[in-house]
Amino acid sequence: MKVLLIGSGGREHALAWKLAQSPLMTEFYAAPGNPGIAEHATLVAVNTEDNDAVVSFCKENAIDFVVVGPEAPLVAGLSDALRAAGFAVFGPSAAAAQLEGSKGFTKDICARYDIPTGAYQRFNNAPKAKAYIRQQGAPIVVKADGLAAGKGVTVAMTIDEALAAVDDCFEGAFGAAGAEVVVEAYLDGEEASFFCLCDGKHVLPLATAQDHKRVGEGDTGPNTGGMGAYSPAPVMTPEMVERTMKEIIEPTMRGMAESGYPFSGVFFAGLMITAKGPELIEYNVRFGDPECQVLVMRLKSDLLPILYATATGTLDQVSAEWTDDPALTVVMASKGYPGSYDKNTPIGHVPEAGEGAKVFHAGTALKDGALVATGGRVLNVTATGKTVGEAQARAYALLDKVDWDNGFCRRDIGWQAIKREKA
Ligand code: AMP
Ligand code: GLY
Repeated sequence: MKVLLIGSGGREHALAWKLAQSPLMTEFYAAPGNPGIAEHATLVAVNTEDNDAVVSFCKENAIDFVVVGPEAPLVAGLSDALRAAGFAVFGPSAAAAQLEGSKGFTKDICARYDIPTGAYQRFNNAPKAKAYIRQQGAPIVVKADGLAAGKGVTVAMTIDEALAAVDDCFEGAFGAAGAEVVVEAYLDGEEASFFCLCDGKHVLPLATAQDHKRVGEGDTGPNTGGMGAYSPAPVMTPEMVERTMKEIIEPTMRGMAESGYPFSGVFFAGLMITAKGPELIEYNVRFGDPECQVLVMRLKSDLLPILYATATGTLDQVSAEWTDDPALTVVMASKGYPGSYDKNTPIGHVPEAGEGAKVFHAGTALKDGALVATGGRVLNVTATGKTVGEAQARAYALLDKVDWDNGFCRRDIGWQAIKREKA
């Protein structure tokens, strides 16, 4: 099979590493890719923001299957353009991607299908949003409706903080994403991410993971794209998984199909496990980054036929086998991230990883043959172990061999699971 992978992050390096192991793979291309992905695929200079350019590349190179990693091209309709041209593509249509692209859309599906989630209202002007906040009281959560690179959410502990967040949204802090605001009840509990595939009709649950969104140790400081993750998430007991499937995932996928937007691709539910059980925080219509890095480490099955079955409506004919061993990844980021940071800082050494360990590249590039850091999140040092504690120790031992002066990481990835292991 001739495959094109779209994307250039740590998630796409993880997908590339796993897909390249498939005996079905005959030719493997990636656009735009990164130096890690280049270990597994031929990088091609196709503008991935130009749907027509991607379609032309696929025609010229007789591509059999396109795997789309990030959300931006999905929301921009890349899957639709490729499907219209007759290509098999892993990734939802732009209409189905609204599940991530519009929080209001998702909330309305929850209301229609009785899916447990925080009570909410949608607003298109500040005075009404503020009146609702004053009436509800704090803590309360204010969200820009559209895609805001993970920064559009304010978990406000006071009414004043919530009112300020409303002003930020309507004054354009998140651009067009903030033209509409969702105000939502605060949910208290432990978070987990639940990953599934859907081919429009059938759902295949994959695995669970826990992200670390805050930049600082002890989950402090500003939100980021994710500073580390581990899988599985121990809070997702078999009972919670069953309830999540029945109460949240299955009605959502039924709702998408019945609304005329059947979902095809991978998605994950961001869940809050509250005293009442699982409640939905949000959906994402792609693999999480860095959650994908730990999922691929645990997947024993060949990933390529599973993604192809998702794209071609035959998901009921495949299964996914996982090792019970946990996997953990630590993100190394440029000093200053998620604020401003220096670019093109030299990375002297990335260690070779052995069995059950791997360093994935995110924001790296080659400059005159030398590896440099070009992004905020740069390397994902990943390892498995018999326990989360062992996976953590192996990941940090590997990370300490990375030679990159301008890099930093959190030293406590996995702390919640390790606390449970010690209890
Ligand atoms: P989101 O972009 O919707 O995933 O929100 C980012 C983060 O804000 C989530 O991972 C949660 O930690 C937090 N959050 C979002 N909604 C709520 C809520 N209703 N209650 C408590 N925390 C929330
Ligand atoms: N790590 C969170 C995300 O990919 O959305």
